Amino acid sequence: MYNDTIFVISNKTDKRRERVVRRRSIVRQFALNTSTHGITGIARSESMHNRIFWSTSFVVFTGITIFFVTQEIPKYFESSTQTSVDIVNEWPQHFTAFTICNLAPVRYDLFVQSFSNYTATLNITNANDKNSMSLQQIKPMGDFFQMKINRNESLDEFFFPLSSMLMTCVFNGRACSVVNFTSFSSSSYGFCYTFNAKLKNINSVHYSDEYGGPGLLNLGFYVHSHQYVPYIREGVGMIAMLHDNAQLPMIDSAGMALATGFKHRITYTKKIISYLRSPYSTCDDKILPMMQTMFDNYQSTEYGYTEDICYELCTQVFTYKHCGCIDPLQWNARWVFLPETEQMILAPLCNISNKCYPEEAYVFLTSSSLLEKHCSYCPQQCFITDFSIKNSLWKTPPAWLVDDIKRFAENSKIPLPHDWLTNWRSHIDASYLSIELVHESTRIENYTQTATLTAVGVLSNVGGQTGLWIGVSFLSLIELAEMLYRLTRQQYHTMRRNCNRTNDESKI
Ligand SMILES: *[C@@H]1O[C@H](CO)[C@@H](O)[C@H](O)[C@H]1NC(C)=O
Ligand SMILES: *[C@@H]1O[C@H](CO)[C@@H](O)[C@H](O)[C@H]1NC(C)=O
Ligand SMILES: *[C@@H]1O[C@H](CO)[C@@H](O)[C@H](O)[C@H]1NC(C)=O
Ligand SMILES: *[C@@H]1O[C@H](CO)[C@@H](O)[C@H](O)[C@H]1NC(C)=O
Ligand SMILES: *[C@@H]1O[C@H](CO)[C@@H](O)[C@H](O)[C@H]1NC(C)=O
Ligand SMILES: *[C@@H]1O[C@H](CO)[C@@H](O)[C@H](O)[C@H]1NC(C)=O
Ligand SMILES: *[C@@H]1O[C@H](CO)[C@@H](O)[C@H](O)[C@H]1NC(C)=O
Repeated sequence: MYNDTIFVISNKTDKRRERVVRRRSIVRQFALNTSTHGITGIARSESMHNRIFWSTSFVVFTGITIFFVTQEIPKYFESSTQTSVDIVNEWPQHFTAFTICNLAPVRYDLFVQSFSNYTATLNITNANDKNSMSLQQIKPMGDFFQMKINRNESLDEFFFPLSSMLMTCVFNGRACSVVNFTSFSSSSYGFCYTFNAKLKNINSVHYSDEYGGPGLLNLGFYVHSHQYVPYIREGVGMIAMLHDNAQLPMIDSAGMALATGFKHRITYTKKIISYLRSPYSTCDDKILPMMQTMFDNYQSTEYGYTEDICYELCTQVFTYKHCGCIDPLQWNARWVFLPETEQMILAPLCNISNKCYPEEAYVFLTSSSLLEKHCSYCPQQCFITDFSIKNSLWKTPPAWLVDDIKRFAENSKIPLPHDWLTNWRSHIDASYLSIELVHESTRIENYTQTATLTAVGVLSNVGGQTGLWIGVSFLSLIELAEMLYRLTRQQYHTMRRNCNRTNDESKI
């Protein structure tokens, strides 16, 4: 019995030692074979010095690795981007949309009738000459427009109709006419006319090479310079703009000046800028209800989202909330959508003398926190189409064309100047201009926003760091897992065995 007991004890210590030895051998096997060089170095070391040297190196380089990896990973979540430029051939390519307006917003003959009745009520009349206007008389012109608009009266009759301006229109050798243009009114230039805008329902956008032509639009205009209201424009001519077929032209800010007496040759190449969607940028193409109502005023055209317009509308909402009226120059965007109430209202225009709207607009547009708060529904555009333009001139009209222009001016519905019979030649020189718009190349510049760091890139960078400093790869992790598995398995078996023995002992 005594012997037996001794045997059991010695057996127990033996087993425990054996267990420890086996566990150590598993760890040692791992340490010697792992690809993590530091650990192999420690395991191989024969002397204490050597072991300390390897341990220190391992700890230091692990520290460095952790530092770089923690630097690397947040960079991915910053979603930083870069822009790459591709020069590609787009074929077939849509011909650009071309918008053109007479520089003068209103024609004198019809405008002056209504306007002089209005000035008469203000007691400003030119006593000497009923047929000419003085600077004093022109001043309330803004008030006149504002009054008409607030009364829901149309200004359309004062604008220059295209039919009395467009003399020639040829696209790729095919005649075009007034019906091929869409119109909209601009607060600075009256009616503007767009060739090749994207229309609703019909896929009607012209391609550059349509009808087998080179992408060439020829236009001739007679601007009726004698009908310009004095004091409101310093120049004579037209204002034009190339833009994307589905973009509302911001002619006030982006228009280019065209002088009369010249043939303007405009050549263009296209540029496309595309932004990455969330989380890389805030870009979105959704059209707000307010913008949709504004676009609905543009007849049959189908316009897309424009960031600049969204900010303009957003400013209107702000001035409306603070002044009860909006900028009198923005009379083509009077529908204001109040986001809190989800309600659409036709805002009245402020009086020109009203100081509220410019002050509020200034406060609003100079404060980024206000902009952020109120214009949060104005995301970035996802696509921007831009054009590189080269502009050059010829003198026009040549002698052979003068008779045609004379006939056109005489047949147009706009009254001729009183000295036409004697001075028609100089009137033609002052009022005629033509345009040759040429598509230069199928080559386009494609600016694309790309992510600086992709998930794969981050993984490679992390892998590079761990590989460079301590030689850890995914398979090293598998080795570690294998070792842990073997240790647990051994532990499990030991426990099972212990358990059996206690069972056996209790049976005894
Ligand atoms: C201007 O007033 C006159 C009479 O004072 C009137 O006959 C004419 O119709 C008015 N014109 C317009 C455009 O209202
Ligand atoms: C214009 O003049 C008349 C008489 O001179 C005067 O009765 C009227 O009040 C004046 N109107 C304005 C707007 O000043
Ligand atoms: C103009 O039209 C709007 C809506 O169509 C209406 O609310 C407003 O009262 C009208 N204004 C005038 C002066 O008729
Ligand atoms: C202009 O419009 C007419 C009628 O829609 C069409 O037949 C003609 O082809 C168009 N012209 C050009 C140059 O597209
Ligand atoms: C604009 O001026 C007119 C008188 O000229 C006045 O009756 C009206 O209340 C003013 N409107 C605003 C919004 O100040
Ligand atoms: C421009 O680049 C974007 C993104 O790479 C691509 O989707 C688009 O098709 C390109 N456009 C052209 C005309 O190649
Ligand atoms: C434990 O005992 C059971 C029977 O009680 C036996 O089947 C099993 O093999 C034993 N396990 C070990 C590890 O000895």
